Amino acid sequence: MPEVYNWQLGRKMLYPYEERHPKWQFAFVFNINRCLACQTCSMADKSTWLFSKGQEYMWWNNVETKPYGGYPQFYDVKITQLIEQVNPGGQVWNVRVGRKHHAPYGVFEGMTIFDAGAKVGQAAIGYIPTDQEWRFVNIYEDTATSMRALVEGIDKTGFSRDEPWKMTGSSLPEHETFFFYLQRICNHCTYPGCLAACPRKAIYKRPEDGIVLIDQNRCRGYKKCVEQCPYKKPMYRGTTRVSEKCIACYPRIEGKDPLTGGEPMETRCMAACVGKIRMQSLVRIGEDGLWAEDRWHPLYFAIRVEQVALPLYPQWGTEPNGYYIPPRHSPRGYARQMFGPGVDNAIEKYLVPSRELLAVLQLWRASQQIIFRYDVIPGPKVFETQIHGKRFEMYNDTVLGFNKSGKEVARIQVEEPIYVRPAERVTWL
Ligand code: SF4
Ligand code: SF4
Ligand code: F3S
Repeated sequence: MPEVYNWQLGRKMLYPYEERHPKWQFAFVFNINRCLACQTCSMADKSTWLFSKGQEYMWWNNVETKPYGGYPQFYDVKITQLIEQVNPGGQVWNVRVGRKHHAPYGVFEGMTIFDAGAKVGQAAIGYIPTDQEWRFVNIYEDTATSMRALVEGIDKTGFSRDEPWKMTGSSLPEHETFFFYLQRICNHCTYPGCLAACPRKAIYKRPEDGIVLIDQNRCRGYKKCVEQCPYKKPMYRGTTRVSEKCIACYPRIEGKDPLTGGEPMETRCMAACVGKIRMQSLVRIGEDGLWAEDRWHPLYFAIRVEQVALPLYPQWGTEPNGYYIPPRHSPRGYARQMFGPGVDNAIEKYLVPSRELLAVLQLWRASQQIIFRYDVIPGPKVFETQIHGKRFEMYNDTVLGFNKSGKEVARIQVEEPIYVRPAERVTWL
């Protein structure tokens, strides 16, 4: 079986499909800490692509409450359990090897879905959810739990035992009782499980932007994609007898929406985001198939330079291109099994952001056009304090965002302007 390099795992891995890399890669960063679970993204997606017969239970975008929520229900626990059944030795990260550019989180020494799949004669290990598991997209919304409950229920829920669960008590910044929202779309993975699994070769990754699509004419409804995508993002439609998935709103990425006059535009679910938690862009892929160095790209800066945003379940091995600023109030053990060993560093960076990171974070939802480059104009110091014993200084810098053609499409200051109404316009009751 061919081997490919997965930088999120810091090592080569088996991938049962021909290695090919796009010129650009669709990628996004979601800031979990800002999400209000208004589901505007889900509705934007639903009203754009998913309003026809046979799509009633289909949500390419969903926002679930962790740890109990999930669409389909318990998909992440079930995948984790399936891998652990094949590999009872544990899903271990070796962080002692040191973090290098092409191994920023250390080296993953456990099994991916492809390693585990090879043991059971499949491209990747997986399962097909029941109809009932798909039916309640918002199950367990706002249901809080505690690490104690999770640990006591460990055999039932199957959460990994590799990390010693860290009990912190109810003190900031971590809470013992917690929940958070997880926003999910297809990750347009570098090594997609869905694509490797399809016996019809009906799934392809576009060379121009890395978007993963199901060819609706080739698909015969074999559902191997539904079975072997660990994120459970391909969905079978009974009325057409083929499967469908998030198409990354590719007409907008191609600049087909009249609003942007030919320039690449962010997807519907990103553009609709009320909490301003989402940013999406295209990152350049080098000759070696890895992310090309692009210091002034906002997503490259957040993911590769500051490492404030992390992949979801990197240990599954598909090299997902969706990244998350992890939740600051959840117990670290829980966050680590979800986002890998980069969690502590990412939260630290987010809690006490560098001057540049604070400026770049203002670009989230500052434009409907895709931002390919940023610049920062320094401003005066406006505030200083101590956060967890660290000195934090805030500068009212101005951050600029540029579209693919290099035109300025966003200009925003770190300090939000305050408008004071003139006294004669104030209505006193
Ligand atoms: Fe395929 Fe699933 Fe990855 Fe999307 S998230 S590309 S459906 S494996
Ligand atoms: Fe839907 Fe587009 Fe978001 Fe995909 S990117 S979930 S197609 S709105
Ligand atoms: Fe292939 Fe999935 Fe269709 S496995 S045939 S793309 S249902």
